[in-house]
Amino acid sequence: MKDLFCSYYTNSKDITSYMVEKLHIVEKDRILEPSAGEGIFIDKVLEKNRMVQIDALDINREAIAVLKKKYENNDAVVVRETDTLLDEQLDAYSCSPLWLKELNPLYERQRDLIGDAGGHYSKIIGNPPYGAWQDYEKRNILKHKFAGHYVKETYSLFLLRCLSVLKSHGILSFIIPDTYLFLNVYSRLREILFTNTKIDEILIFPSKFFPGVRFRYSNLSIITLARWEKKEAVNHVFRVVQGFHSPSEIGMLLEKNNTFPKHLQVYHFKQKDILNHEQCRIILADKKTLSLLSKPSKKLGDVADVVTGFYTGDNLRFIRTASKDVKGAKNYKVVEQDKVFHCTSLYGISNVQEGYIPYIKSASQRRYVRQKDEWFVRWDMKTIEFYNSNKKSRFQNSSFYFNTGIGIPMVKSRRIHAFLMSNHVFDQSIVGIFPKDTAKLYYLLALMNSDVINHLIYAVNPSANNSANYIKGLPYIEPDENVFIQINNKVQELIDLEKVENYEKADDLHKELNGMIEQIYF
Ligand SMILES: C[S@@+](CC[C@H](N)C(=O)[O-])C[C@H]1O[C@@H](n2cnc3c(N)ncnc32)[C@H](O)[C@@H]1O
Repeated sequence: MKDLFCSYYTNSKDITSYMVEKLHIVEKDRILEPSAGEGIFIDKVLEKNRMVQIDALDINREAIAVLKKKYENNDAVVVRETDTLLDEQLDAYSCSPLWLKELNPLYERQRDLIGDAGGHYSKIIGNPPYGAWQDYEKRNILKHKFAGHYVKETYSLFLLRCLSVLKSHGILSFIIPDTYLFLNVYSRLREILFTNTKIDEILIFPSKFFPGVRFRYSNLSIITLARWEKKEAVNHVFRVVQGFHSPSEIGMLLEKNNTFPKHLQVYHFKQKDILNHEQCRIILADKKTLSLLSKPSKKLGDVADVVTGFYTGDNLRFIRTASKDVKGAKNYKVVEQDKVFHCTSLYGISNVQEGYIPYIKSASQRRYVRQKDEWFVRWDMKTIEFYNSNKKSRFQNSSFYFNTGIGIPMVKSRRIHAFLMSNHVFDQSIVGIFPKDTAKLYYLLALMNSDVINHLIYAVNPSANNSANYIKGLPYIEPDENVFIQINNKVQELIDLEKVENYEKADDLHKELNGMIEQIYF
């Protein structure tokens, strides 16, 4: 079930049982369910038949009504309708006005406070809302309360909020998207986690394990942790498990004999090591990949400018397609050929009322060379003036428009198709890579098309986007001059083959190049 409050209820016995077991419930536990929904976790906790006290909070009146009815004769459960992120009672329990007033000096202070103070709950369990829309007013309040953190996504704020009311050595188990492990916007959250808690275990699995839930941008995860003093926390080793084929395999992790299916991938990390990684990022990969990524001596961003492209502000109005057969072109008008001009000026096509130029947008069918112009963007002078003044348009990185470089689609696909760009404006759905030294153009083109780079991009950020920031940080290794020249020549040959549509030979050459890059990196 999904609604305004993002109520995906935890409709999976395997998941609820695992999480409740992980809490190690004991008598007199004071438990918080910060986004209780209809009480699926609470019911499971109550099955344990222990004398515990549970605070069940939710913002949704209907959910609260269900909870109140369900637990009206149970003194152990106190139901409260509130916004957990702003709730004043939780503020009072919080280790300090942790996310409230301690704005200066922001960061160090936050970390220290969370380590020292007492908290209130001994156990916290939840499936907090993710992807919930926050109106701008609330975002502003949250920006103050959780200063220095990414406030557009609620689940991470629930995690911070709950950490601040968790007692020292108290346990928390949350089911949340896995993006906090990888994305740069969560680097501060990661630093707080790995410094102030001992992570017990993190499981990663597809969102479809939740009956009725399926989102593409990331997987789901269950994180279980205990609040702990920094000194011991940083030396703690924990495991991340992924590769589950079904939810029932999650329960197997609780078995004492520790034998679980061979297809599960298990990674161990010392928290201190992650704190030393760039952006405190978790990299789920083999040792070689890990060492390549953790401290690259040279990065792609050192040898190339990596930038995102242009946005008209209203694509259906300003973009045209070559034909309705082009992928994704259903709602776009077909360009009139007599309105297409050659122009490589940032000021636009002069002396025309309405004029278009070829435009690079969305993925390319082939690697190395885009087959033909499928998109056109309006580029007459008047329209350029409009782009420059319109709030929604993004005339960003314009010094790179029409330059020679490499494009890759922003949205990940199974295999990245990198292609040459020149004399074109490129869309914000494309990441443009422009070598600082043009002699590196073909080598970078081969690199960006290689399985190695594909593998590294996934390892750095398994979520759906190839944003420029992650591409910049990829390790850049150059072979000796001899191999470098060989690769250049082969890429030139491959481009010629693509141009005459000799795809079979072009694919063979690509395989060869791919192997050469593999040898350079591994
Ligand atoms: C993903 S559901 C999970 C419900 C329940 N914990 C479960 O696992 O079945 C998220 C719940 O969070 C509640 N919620 C959303 N925003 C909230 C907020 N700011 N404060 C408290 N509850 C909130 C929704 O009403 C919904 O019941």
